[in-house]
Amino acid sequence: MKRLQSSLMWTPLIASLAISPVAMSAQGPSDIHYDDASKVFRIDAGGVTYAFGINNVNELQPVYWGRQLSSGDAFPATMTEPPAASFDSPATTTLNEYAGWGGGLYVEPALKVTFPDGNRDLVLHYVSHTIKGNELTIMLEDIDRELFVELHYIVDDATGIVGRSAVIMNKTQTPVMIEGAAAATWSLPRGTDYSLRYLTGRWAAEDNLQKQPIHPGETVLESKRGSTGHQNNPWFAIERGDDSDEDTGNVWFGALAWSGSWRITVEQDQLQQIRVTGGFNPFDFGYKLLPGKQLETPVFYGGYSHHGIGGASRLLHRFELTKIVPEAPSLRPRPVIYNSWEATGFNVDEPGQEALAEKAASIGVERFIMDDGWFGQRKDDHAGLGDWYVNQQKFPHGLKPLIDKVHSLGMDFGLWVEPEMVNPDSNLYRKHPDWVLNFTGRPRTEQRNQLVLNLARQDVRDYVYGFLDNLLSHNQIAFLKWDYNRNWSEPGWPAVALDEQKAVYVDYVRNLYGILRELRAKYPNVEIESCSGGGGRVDLGILGLTDEVWPSDNTDPFDRLRIQDGFTYAYTPGVMMAWVTDSPSWANNRTTSVTYRFLSSMQGSLGVGANLNHWAPEEFATAKELIAAYKGIRETVQHGSLYRLVSPENGSEESVTESVSLDKKQGVLFAFLHSSHMGYPFPRVYLRGLDPKIDYRVTAISGALAKGSPSGASGSYWMSHGVDVDLRGDFQAAAFRFDAAGSNPGH
Ligand code: GLA
Repeated sequence: MKRLQSSLMWTPLIASLAISPVAMSAQGPSDIHYDDASKVFRIDAGGVTYAFGINNVNELQPVYWGRQLSSGDAFPATMTEPPAASFDSPATTTLNEYAGWGGGLYVEPALKVTFPDGNRDLVLHYVSHTIKGNELTIMLEDIDRELFVELHYIVDDATGIVGRSAVIMNKTQTPVMIEGAAAATWSLPRGTDYSLRYLTGRWAAEDNLQKQPIHPGETVLESKRGSTGHQNNPWFAIERGDDSDEDTGNVWFGALAWSGSWRITVEQDQLQQIRVTGGFNPFDFGYKLLPGKQLETPVFYGGYSHHGIGGASRLLHRFELTKIVPEAPSLRPRPVIYNSWEATGFNVDEPGQEALAEKAASIGVERFIMDDGWFGQRKDDHAGLGDWYVNQQKFPHGLKPLIDKVHSLGMDFGLWVEPEMVNPDSNLYRKHPDWVLNFTGRPRTEQRNQLVLNLARQDVRDYVYGFLDNLLSHNQIAFLKWDYNRNWSEPGWPAVALDEQKAVYVDYVRNLYGILRELRAKYPNVEIESCSGGGGRVDLGILGLTDEVWPSDNTDPFDRLRIQDGFTYAYTPGVMMAWVTDSPSWANNRTTSVTYRFLSSMQGSLGVGANLNHWAPEEFATAKELIAAYKGIRETVQHGSLYRLVSPENGSEESVTESVSLDKKQGVLFAFLHSSHMGYPFPRVYLRGLDPKIDYRVTAISGALAKGSPSGASGSYWMSHGVDVDLRGDFQAAAFRFDAAGSNPGH
């Protein structure tokens, strides 16, 4: 086998936009091989084999996806399913890597087009392929017309995760209307014991984990909203059999890198085969492809683990941290931040923010972020969006005095923006009412008193880039919280020809990515958070261009345990912001201790969003202590391996997570108790992922182990004997670090 390396890009759509190519790390060789005799392609990497063949009718037919096979294992040539009945054409019963809608296909097509002569039949056949390093490219062509599809496969050496995408090329002489284009179809063999996990939610209640058996028929995960959405997240995991749990069993998973309307369908077809097709949402889709032009789909990443759903998410976390996030693979720890939103709302001004900044600095905060309210005529959410000048009443001397003050306190400065939106009560809207998404003569439905700017328009794109460029070039801003507080309605683009208007679904997101890429290139030290009323725009597309995400506006530390748990099935805690806010929480009127709130937030990237003007000296003291402790574990929490030891799902009274550093020198344990019952002690906790042979000293970050627990023992002891945490009462929490003997626990 040839050792392959590549500096090819991960995400074609983003790649053409990326600042610098993400080079493949040399963690392990991948191998892509084509066998002439069987006509089977085989991709091996990270302990995973993915294979498909060119079958007897010249179509691409999936063969295998799972645990790595022996290099000597040979696959037979692929053959279509035999015709069974006049209702079951082989075109629909045979699995297909990327099927055009045509020739009697009744399952979800990957591609659906209409030619100008009315022909809507598309049958894609293999033409040629190239293998270059860790990337395989296959050219398909319609049986009759010069409509080509270039399929891309790129594999990650370390995790075996495969990125798949398609480029649709019109080499005919006439335009072709694309009515649906997926990035890929993933297939699994016939079986009746598959189950599906996916994430659902709404504002302030994101990332609820769902699990259900896969039955005949189709499950649709999607957003028709113009952006990723809170309701479904573009991630899935499929398990097989009953014996699959957090640590064991076969899990196939995937995540779509797209921040616009998207769809993933999970089908069990009539032969009980599983097909997962994902890409642009075909609902209301129409992309006119002129002769000589091409349309690039998002990338759909897929992976496999035989270590259960926990193994699957650890692979995805590693992949995100090493291949997706802008800094990858050289990651800096996320700073501890302060954000003004829950403390001051829209009432920001120079003295108020400076007072908060002083208090934030005193507890060890490293970045001070001023949220909404600093610009235009922004007093509440009725006015100002679109007018990105500094409000003179609130900041008579501009932002400089505040930024200087923040710097003098040893912190850097971040600012909230919501670039894609406009309030009708703004100078921008008064000047450019045609800049918003709208259908001529129809209502413009406001949500949060705002409309969506049509970023697909070049003039809007120029305006948005221009004001952000201006803001960043005139102020020492280290961080932007990029918000997006509504979904689309009346998504019209009346300024272009009728048959080009639906391109808004693609062109909007491309321009969003383009602006982010250009800003990052010009201001490489500026970090960006993706926020959309909490976690409404979290996906691998936006994560390629932003450094962190805001998972939810719900900052109740108990609700957050569940939201954070759900989040980690798809996304690394390294990008998951979590703030300590005031108690009782606005979300549930629940009262919790400052320690409980800190420990909940310390499971991700820690921030503080409380009104520090109301804090008592003891709260400052606790906060200072816990922030210092967090700095000693954040590398492990943010970039280590996460083990969900006890899930807060299904009303569990307890929840426990553990993070282990990559070198296994440190483990960090967080344990939470909702309520004690009948005097039962906290169940014993079994650590995972430590080195069984080395000794670890345990130090309490907060709370205590049960009386008589050893202060040091082998990894094997902590994992097999387990740990007894002394937790009783309501809303109690404890955290511990396990440091390998010889490493410095003071760090
Ligand atoms: C959204 C964000 C909040 C805050 C407000 C400001 O809801 O999710 O964190 O920034 O907007 O208006």
